[in-house]
Amino acid sequence: MQEQALKLEGSRASIAVIRIDSPPVNSLGHATRTALAESIQAAHAAKEVDAIVLIGAGKLFSAGADIREFDRPEVWKSPDLSELIALIERGPKPVVAAIHGMAMGGGLELALGCHARVATHNALLALPEVKLGLLPGAGGTQRLPRLAGLTRALDMIVSGEPQTAAELQGTPLLDQVIEHEHVLLPAAVALAEQMGEHGERPMASARTVTAENADLQLAAAREQVARRTPREPAKRRCIDAVEASLLLPFEAALERELAYFHELSASPESRALRHLFFAERTAASISDIPKDTPVRPIHSAAVVGAGTMGAGIAQCLLDAGIPVKLLEASRAALDRGVASITRQYQRARDKGRIDDARMAARLKLLTPVLDYAALGDVDIVIEAVFEQFDVKSKVFQSLDAVMKPGAILATNTSMLDINRLAATTGRAGDVIGTHFFSPAHVMRLLEVVRGEQTRADVLVTVMRLAKKLGKTAVVARVCDGFIGNRMIEQYLRQAGFLLEEGATPAQVDRAVEQFGLAMGPFRMSDMAGNDIGYDIRKRRSRETPSLFYSRIPDLLVETLDRKGQKVGRGWYDYQEGSYQAIPSAEVDDMIVQFRKAHNLQARQISDEEIVKRLVYALVNEGYRILDDGTAQRASDIDVAYATGYGFPDTRGGPMFYADEVGLDKVLADMAVFARNPQADPAFWVPAAGLLARVEAQR
Ligand code: NAI
Repeated sequence: MQEQALKLEGSRASIAVIRIDSPPVNSLGHATRTALAESIQAAHAAKEVDAIVLIGAGKLFSAGADIREFDRPEVWKSPDLSELIALIERGPKPVVAAIHGMAMGGGLELALGCHARVATHNALLALPEVKLGLLPGAGGTQRLPRLAGLTRALDMIVSGEPQTAAELQGTPLLDQVIEHEHVLLPAAVALAEQMGEHGERPMASARTVTAENADLQLAAAREQVARRTPREPAKRRCIDAVEASLLLPFEAALERELAYFHELSASPESRALRHLFFAERTAASISDIPKDTPVRPIHSAAVVGAGTMGAGIAQCLLDAGIPVKLLEASRAALDRGVASITRQYQRARDKGRIDDARMAARLKLLTPVLDYAALGDVDIVIEAVFEQFDVKSKVFQSLDAVMKPGAILATNTSMLDINRLAATTGRAGDVIGTHFFSPAHVMRLLEVVRGEQTRADVLVTVMRLAKKLGKTAVVARVCDGFIGNRMIEQYLRQAGFLLEEGATPAQVDRAVEQFGLAMGPFRMSDMAGNDIGYDIRKRRSRETPSLFYSRIPDLLVETLDRKGQKVGRGWYDYQEGSYQAIPSAEVDDMIVQFRKAHNLQARQISDEEIVKRLVYALVNEGYRILDDGTAQRASDIDVAYATGYGFPDTRGGPMFYADEVGLDKVLADMAVFARNPQADPAFWVPAAGLLARVEAQR
């Protein structure tokens, strides 16, 4: 840690400035904590130093603990964060935290242990531990309520969301909020000097918590957490810990906080969330591509097709400040696309998410066009026209004719063969798949599909662009359905078999929703449109006649004409303007008649069996996907499922979940399912990789 003594002009006080300097985010790993403790002890011992300023090097104060240490003994190795904070708080000299950029997690806890805080108005302050299924374990749940009051502290700790220094101004948390970063250090030094002169060392731990109607506030927070996030024990414990700040002496409350921290860090939910945290970061790296692969500049883009997906994709690009040319087949379709984008922005503005100026600035970046010639100079084009090979190949040929050399040609196809599409152009190396999810401007997942010919720099550029768009990108190879849809197909097939054997759509949905999935398979199909699945099954049956599907989902469309939410009837009934799924007697009756006609015995199927069969269908296909190299690694599959398919993040994704259950147990259950006389025995043939892993674990 760099240490420097500052002497302000005309002042007798001497201030030691200590910098937290561990790039890129000044995380507080063991080496950094040791260096900080040594610097602080040296400043305490130095006669000429009257007070200390703690500031972050580079762009921020500190993003907090080094999360890689969490599962290692280093995190508790002395000085641990609590010891470092105690050294500051109880030390003989005042310490002022000078905060810019962000103070997150352990970084904020460190600042709370200082005797005063100065921050730039736009600095972000947060205790986001709850997002990893944890709580702040170095006094954050005790000092924040004392400095920011109960209401704010509860909100920040339970939500994990940041607040700006400007929002926190006026609370004892911040002694001073300043406008410009270049005066941060002088302001902090001036305050430290003043405190040094007067010997002031106010300690957060010595304050009492200010709270009105504390009992009511705690009860309301508990009720909200129980209702909205019943599967997140960390949120409950955050409230318990904050409550301890009202009930217990400081030291006893700290002990309780630490006990909760240990309890949570061993919880399956936290393990799952931490797994996903690292999995998301790992997903960005591509094993066979050198790190120094050059990135092509993306300053402008085009989108072809302004329907549901094209409009959403255009909006993603505009949100990232990238100018977009939007091309359609007709003036009417183009106008509809532009109107839909405008409407989305108006909605965001009405909800206060953006202001008029920003909305106007984004729309100004949009240029509607009807002629391919207008696209020639853009850096990337994303095609989102109808899912028909002939239509798409014509579009790609038109693009090939006009695009400048080096432009990237991306397709949003859900399942067409990107290699074949690339071959219709004279630049297959520049062609790539960018599979967005609906609504494209909201959903985080982006499957980036590399074709056989896709060049390394094209892949790397699109991964970089995904990050700029705020997406979580997962790399897939070309195959039918890529990662996510290929897996969901097996899950939906299995859901159909469950109906044949005795379950109802409502029972299946309820069982997996209780497990934590955002939506069960039948509600999901109703939302996507049952005709889409129908068309896919027809195509599959033509291509692979041996592939066996339940006929029940076909009859839903063929005989009952229940295409889903868009027509107000699908697996469920829907009332006008409502998405509430009402179980349908007509559908239940159709299923009963189907079983009778085919001599199928209905039996009571437990919720546990339903969940296992649906989740293990995902897992087995996930292993097949790894076997054939469609996905790079199991954790990428987890990321895809958690960010694109509503798999509960507190379960870590299907592959992680299967590991937690124990792959040998998963395999044993699959064998039981295969013996079911009504099952398609081919369905449960284990993937080679799954067998190999179980074998290796024996
Ligand atoms: P859509 O039917 O809403 O929009 C397609 C648009 O393309 C229409 O506005 C149409 O006028 C336009 N178009 C058709 N031919 C054209 C041509 N030759 N030149 C210019 N524009 C043309 O379809 P949607 O849902 O937006 O799907 C587009 C693509 O995205 C498809 O490949 C689909 O498989 C894929 N996709 C769809 C998802 C969804 O949830 N809807 C999710 C992920 C991918």
